Amino acid sequence: MKFGILTGGGDCPGLNAVIRAVARKAFLNNDVVFGFHYGWKGVIEGDGNWLTHYHVSGILHRGGTILGTSRTNPYKTEDGEKKIKQTLEKLGIDALIAVGGEDTLGVAAKLAAAGLPVVGVPKTIDNDLSGTDVTFGFDTAINIAMEAIDRIHTTAESHNRVMVVEVMGRHAGWIALYSGLAGGADVILIPEKPFDLDEVCSIIKTRHERGKTFSIVVASEGAKIDSSKDDSFVVQAKEVDEFGHVRLGGVGNLLAGEIENRTGYETRATILGHIQRGGTPTAADRVLGSRYGVFAYDLARKGEWGKMAALRGQEIIAVDIQDATKELKTVDLDLYEVAEVFFG
Ligand code: F6P
Repeated sequence: MKFGILTGGGDCPGLNAVIRAVARKAFLNNDVVFGFHYGWKGVIEGDGNWLTHYHVSGILHRGGTILGTSRTNPYKTEDGEKKIKQTLEKLGIDALIAVGGEDTLGVAAKLAAAGLPVVGVPKTIDNDLSGTDVTFGFDTAINIAMEAIDRIHTTAESHNRVMVVEVMGRHAGWIALYSGLAGGADVILIPEKPFDLDEVCSIIKTRHERGKTFSIVVASEGAKIDSSKDDSFVVQAKEVDEFGHVRLGGVGNLLAGEIENRTGYETRATILGHIQRGGTPTAADRVLGSRYGVFAYDLARKGEWGKMAALRGQEIIAVDIQDATKELKTVDLDLYEVAEVFFG
């Protein structure tokens, strides 16, 4: 059987583990795998190469994706779906494995509904994909963010400063919540719970009046200020990508300025940005990526089109990509309440 694989959307630690797993399982069965370059762009253009043992050797520990990625949306490209069909026909590909988040898998769901042989693997550091308990990449991101918060602690303490740490997470605050909880943040701000600046400052003031000389605020890039009432994000650029997303970023600096003005405490902001996505994956993400890859290969072998590998408890199961991409998985507010116990 001939397989194709692509990685789409923002890169994420563990992608190479998935590619390696699909290829290694395929080689065991004398199947072949074509690696498409740069996400859906490669499938539209027929760009990529047949993978050999050489290509997938020594990549397990490497971040990023050996195939490259992009945010190309075939449904925003003229005859995108038709071109994808033509590429699969030309290469004789029987099954396509799409590795991505809501956007890449949203396309996979549409293609499967149109009769194409597509299965999915859930990827995103944001952990906001429904249908699965966890996406790979999330564990690495929260560990990087936690380590950064640990480091920020010692400098905050030495300078008696308030430090705002801005982490990724557009519409879901999973990274902020987990890294903030694990890193002992004094305030955590997430998109799901628009925040009141006076309340944030009052938590910090009370803490300092109790004798603490520094504070750590962890904020998702998508955190919103309640009092602005316009429900808008703080954005870096107004242009949208092919999936309609603006480039977020800036809430950390905005918060730092406001906190310093309102409390009088010296405040600095650190934006972790793409550091959270780069570099070597954790053991958990390597294992999860490998399990997803093997499972997706099996799904495709069985012809279970439109399905995606997902983690449920300790088990990997198959779910409909369509269901998984209907709505984002936002933060469980009960867990946020646990984090609130440690605020201030
Ligand atoms: O979707 C994953 C993600 O890392 C988001 O958390 C973040 O907003 C976005 O990608 C950044 O995208 P880009 O790589 O285009 O800057």
